[in-house]
Amino acid sequence: VTARVAVLTGGGDCPGLNAAIRAVVRRSHERGSEALGVRNGWRGLVEGNVEPLGMREISGILPRGGTILGTTGVDPRRLDGGVERVLEHARGIDAIVAIGGEGTLGVAAELHALHGLPVVGVPKTIDNDLAATDYTIGFDTAVSIATEAIDRLHTTAESHNRVMVVEVMGRESGWIALHAGLAAGADAILVPEHPMTLEAVTALLEARHRRGKDFSIVVVAEGCPLVLESGERRVVSMGVDPNGFVRYGGVGYELGVELERRTGFQTRVTVLGHVQRGGTPTGRDRVVAARLGLLAADLAHERRFGLMAAVRGDDVVPVSLRDATAERKGVPAELYATARALFG
Ligand code: F6P
Repeated sequence: VTARVAVLTGGGDCPGLNAAIRAVVRRSHERGSEALGVRNGWRGLVEGNVEPLGMREISGILPRGGTILGTTGVDPRRLDGGVERVLEHARGIDAIVAIGGEGTLGVAAELHALHGLPVVGVPKTIDNDLAATDYTIGFDTAVSIATEAIDRLHTTAESHNRVMVVEVMGRESGWIALHAGLAAGADAILVPEHPMTLEAVTALLEARHRRGKDFSIVVVAEGCPLVLESGERRVVSMGVDPNGFVRYGGVGYELGVELERRTGFQTRVTVLGHVQRGGTPTGRDRVVAARLGLLAADLAHERRFGLMAAVRGDDVVPVSLRDATAERKGVPAELYATARALFG
């Protein structure tokens, strides 16, 4: 055996994780190494919950959503003795491939920098908000699910002359809202990076009605604040989860109530929620996951730790985990302007 390479998935699941795991395991075997699966994200290394991953374990997983390894957002730094236990359980492991978003990869970056943990990252999150990569696994599937949902809401909005508010995921970033809204021809898209005021949304819907369009679709990202012309802002959330992350969800309902009150137009609200993270990945997510998984496994074998396999243009390239987790990648103003040009 050349090396023992462990793979873990952390944070929220998404379609495409299994395709990435499969690529890491296959490349590791090809290079004469033993592949190991860490259960439930970083928690598996805190608990020493690590099992061999053979060809049998990865057979048939490519098109399956979720992750065969299980996942949690557990941050060992928040547990008493958590980091020490991770380091202890990682002792017999030559390399760890951590597949995750901001939270999971933030742990990876720090444990590498402070303790020399031999870790390589792979970016995943339906939110697509990681810096240093153009793309994260899961985003394309989420966009296609949300696009289909908005298409379906369109026909019922039209039949009933209603305003349909659709709340999509994305925490503090509007990537899913922007892409699905643009793809499905939404009349307004509300994203945290460039929030519209309620007055502006109301004016848009009223102008549409004056043009004889008496139905509308409004897409809102879950973490988008409700903003008034007066400057007043309100973020709707459901508190904080045990790992310290804000739980979003519900802004769509408040927006729907406000828009109906202001316009007098009948309004209905759909919160898409975890549907956006479930089921089979698109072809694009499988292909990107395969490419990133192979690159990460190669970096691991070359002992180039502290790096993340990233997408840059048409290429997959190594970038620093620190850069990837130092800040969030928001929707740029020019992309939002493109969507906005087609509002109403
Ligand atoms: O970060 C991915 C994501 O799906 C966000 O879009 C959403 O806010 C969050 O995870 C939901 O987390 P949980 O699965 O813990 O409810």
